[in-house]
Amino acid sequence: MSIQQKKIQELIDKRAQARLGGGEKRIEAQHKKGKLTARERLDLLLDEGSFEEFDMFVSHRCTDFDLDKQQIMTDGVVTGYGTIDGRLVYVYAQDFTVFGGSLAEMQAMKICKVLDKAMKVGAPVIGINDSGGARIQEGVTSLAGYGEIFMRNIEASGVIPQITAIFGPCAGGAVYSPALTDFIVMTKDKSYMFLTGPKVVKTVTGEVVNEEQLGGASVHGTKSGVTHFVAEDEKEGILLIRKLLSYLPQNNLEDPPIANCMDPIDRFDDNLNSIIPDSPAKPYDIKNVIESIVDYGEFLEIHRHYAPNIVIGFARFNGMSVGIVANQPNYLAGVLDINSSRKAARFIRFCDAFNIPIVTLIDVPGFLPGTSQEYGGIIVHGAKLLFAYGEATVPKISVILRKDYGGAYLVMSSKHLKGDINYAWPSAEIAVMGPKGAIEVLYTKEVAAIEDEAEKLAFIAKKEAEYTEKFATPYNASKYGYIDDVIEPRTTRFRIIRALQSLATKKASLPPKKHSNIPL
Ligand code: HXC
Repeated sequence: MSIQQKKIQELIDKRAQARLGGGEKRIEAQHKKGKLTARERLDLLLDEGSFEEFDMFVSHRCTDFDLDKQQIMTDGVVTGYGTIDGRLVYVYAQDFTVFGGSLAEMQAMKICKVLDKAMKVGAPVIGINDSGGARIQEGVTSLAGYGEIFMRNIEASGVIPQITAIFGPCAGGAVYSPALTDFIVMTKDKSYMFLTGPKVVKTVTGEVVNEEQLGGASVHGTKSGVTHFVAEDEKEGILLIRKLLSYLPQNNLEDPPIANCMDPIDRFDDNLNSIIPDSPAKPYDIKNVIESIVDYGEFLEIHRHYAPNIVIGFARFNGMSVGIVANQPNYLAGVLDINSSRKAARFIRFCDAFNIPIVTLIDVPGFLPGTSQEYGGIIVHGAKLLFAYGEATVPKISVILRKDYGGAYLVMSSKHLKGDINYAWPSAEIAVMGPKGAIEVLYTKEVAAIEDEAEKLAFIAKKEAEYTEKFATPYNASKYGYIDDVIEPRTTRFRIIRALQSLATKKASLPPKKHSNIPL
């Protein structure tokens, strides 16, 4: 064997060893927990054979706690780039078999390198987290490493899409890198995120909770809204990420990709002409409307189980990516509250940053009244949604299906917030408030003066009917040009597509400023 051949063999051996991470036993333990290894995850995520790895031979430089005797190549994270459906992405996947995927100086350097390269060429970054957090033996350099990553996450925000999968533990300050990214995917029963674990919680507050109750996917998918997607398993989570990327541009200077579309643009759906119930108190499922109008009925819903009174997600119209925001009459009558305002506001800002038009479907009785909302700061949180719509310069198209009352009328992509094309169905009711509330306010004295109960109810019903006829229609708003057209529901898909086509070359900007001061 020549010297060169020997060196090549040495390289092959080193690569094989690096690929084993923390060793076969630990890989087996990972599988036993129902989890894949970092490399298996990247194999599933990326197009076959497209992965190019960086920094395989990196290892830590710590000499404390005898760690220098445990030199493991890769330092607990596999990094590099590859393609998804032929489009470039940068990736990192923490390897739990190496020191529990814990992060310190060199692992952080590897992740930062990926983020820097992705920023340089304008490509999305996908991180897969499975880690015990800051590597205890390396002390402050571990903390510094997180700081370097956070800073890059912040700089990359709004420039390249950043997606994080949580496929294992993610604890302590480590949670802040995922939180700074655009989308988080968690797996059921196998992943958790919390700032302080169950033991510390018990010591400090006396509260007894387990990891799942404290920060499992079920909690973050429903109560906190920290995660955008909850997947059954890692495979489903990875497929979700691939699908999500298909709606997104590579960076903020590009438009989203246009997909081939064989779904006719003039596919009218007669069911929409009878979807609104006669009774204003009766709900219907807005998702049926969404699925009826978008290409092939395909809708990638985000935050499905969090604040379901508003529905958000990606879909396509004639191949064009859009972000959909829709009130859900099926849940709390589609009322706006703190959580739904925050949920939709962040989504709108993502769409705006990445040139994705926003289609808004409106059926909203107003903001949820009461002390819990007021004490929780609905004023500020509702303002987030208002701000996000007002600030967005991407094409904004809206359709009012039924109720659109009061402040909610203004907030939901109204003409006054520079909505580009505002349509209404004939069933739209646009007014300061609903008939019941309006008559209570306007005729308090008259109602009180009527002694006979039947007469009182008849008076109220008559006044409510008068109010409904006069104010609760789309034609008052149309009279002032606040609604561009009243459309037949069955034609909604066609009208939205025409509107999107007409806005494809929209140019709009905000006054020059360092940045806005959205009410956080
Ligand atoms: C060094 C760690 C580690 C860590 C795990 N390991 N976490 N090594 N630093 N933070 C090592 C273990 O010693 C073990 O090594 C291997 O990883 C697997 O860990 P196990 O405990 O055997 O696995 P498991 O039973 O599945 O438990 C996983 C775990 C637990 C729940 C994550 O390891 C754990 O609680 N780790 C500490 C979590 C933590 O408190 N991290 C710091 C958070 S604060 P061997 O050699 O046996 O395989 C933080 C601050 C960040 O992160 C601040 C940023 C601003």
